[in-house]
Amino acid sequence: MGKDNKVYRTLIVFAGLLLLIAGLVLAQEPAATETPAAAVSCDPADLHAYTTERVADAQAALAESTDPEAINAALGQLYLIGEEFKARALTCGYIPENIGQMPIDEDTSIERVIEVMDTLTGDPLRGQLLYLGQERSTQNATLGCSGCHATGDVAPITEGTWTRWDEERRLLPEYAEQDFAHYAAEAILHPNVYVVPPYGENLMPAIYTLALGYQDLLDLIRFLESQDQLP
Ligand code: HEC
Repeated sequence: MGKDNKVYRTLIVFAGLLLLIAGLVLAQEPAATETPAAAVSCDPADLHAYTTERVADAQAALAESTDPEAINAALGQLYLIGEEFKARALTCGYIPENIGQMPIDEDTSIERVIEVMDTLTGDPLRGQLLYLGQERSTQNATLGCSGCHATGDVAPITEGTWTRWDEERRLLPEYAEQDFAHYAAEAILHPNVYVVPPYGENLMPAIYTLALGYQDLLDLIRFLESQDQLP
């Protein structure tokens, strides 16, 4: 037990502390780079700068990773970037092949919903099955719209939906420019924007953005459109 032993012990404790600090710093690093850049516009030059920077971050993390934990963190970063890039591409207007099966985000504008639906083909018969709750939506929900809309007691009766739009709704100045698909999409996704008289607000549940994919919404609209429309 000499003076040397004490010095060694101090050194070991000191080295341990250093390792701990280094570990903490390393652990913090991926989190720091995960934060998405504040506001990136959809301008191609902005997107290019932004994606280049994010990819460079991921590459650096991969290059520096040697132990399993750091490699895992670097892979996690890669995964997050993938998700983030996908979301950004969608926000900027990309329409992937399987968009019909994708859920409709609550913040998506009706214009964008219409733009997406224009790339799909609607099926009124499937729409009817969805409406009656006899088939599940792409998001695996049973809708049962007819539970409320079968008679005129609690909600506008299904029969004549198109005619009511044609003869009443579209005569209103705010709906003069909109076609039936636009009106129906809004009525289903954001029921409180226009409340059909004499029914009250908040009676039609504002939950269908969660339950519907784009294909479901289009099929429902094609079905409603077929209600009362002259051949
Ligand atoms: C809990 C009852 C209820 C359910 C379930 C319901 N609705 Fe409604 N819906 C209403 C009521 C009440 C209104 C009228 C008030 C309003 O405009 O919000 C309405 C209005 C509408 C309108 C406008 C009708 C018109 O003639 O202008 C459409 C279209 C519509 N619903 C479609 C649907 C679809 C599609 C579903 C299923 C995905 C559905 N609703 C489920 C109660 C319901």
